[in-house]
Amino acid sequence: MLKKATLKETQELAHEISLKVNDGNIILLNGEMGSGKTQFVRFLCSSLKVKDRVSSPSFIIMNKYETSEGLEIFHFDFYRITDIRDLEEIGLFEILESKKGLVIVEWANMFKSLFVKEKNIIDIYFNFIEDNINLREISIQR
Ligand SMILES: Nc1ncnc2c1ncn2[C@@H]1O[C@H](COP(=O)(O)OP(=O)(O)O)[C@@H](O)[C@H]1O
Ligand SMILES: [Mg+2]
Repeated sequence: MLKKATLKETQELAHEISLKVNDGNIILLNGEMGSGKTQFVRFLCSSLKVKDRVSSPSFIIMNKYETSEGLEIFHFDFYRITDIRDLEEIGLFEILESKKGLVIVEWANMFKSLFVKEKNIIDIYFNFIEDNINLREISIQR
């Protein structure tokens, strides 16, 4: 799926996806700085009724939230990761193995190979559109 999305359409897309995700799902977010990855996570979490504050976990690597229905969300940002051991330390592999919770990864393309064996992946790409700062081209692969 490939579409051009306004901010509101990005929100609608996040809502549609929120209806389909559950424990064991992985959402990979790719795209340049400012392309809308964190914004998408905010919209998604809002649809999932997350009360915690959603922010970009770039320095601390992972944020954890919980929905009103008790679904745990593990929000990663790989931007500053240079060593895969940092991800091991923070528990990514245990989380993946447990198939519990929803895993969301910004800058997933930095370590794409980590996910080759995983199922239940939604792979999303955000691209800027020339001449319009309020539109993004969003493509989704499953
Ligand atoms: N169509 C759109 N879709 C998503 N975000 C948009 C759109 N138009 C403007 N924006 C804005 O672009 C910014 C994206 O920032 P952010 O989500 O932090 O990017 P990233 O996490 O990819 O670095 C937000 O301020 C958001 O409101
Ligand atoms: Mg971000």
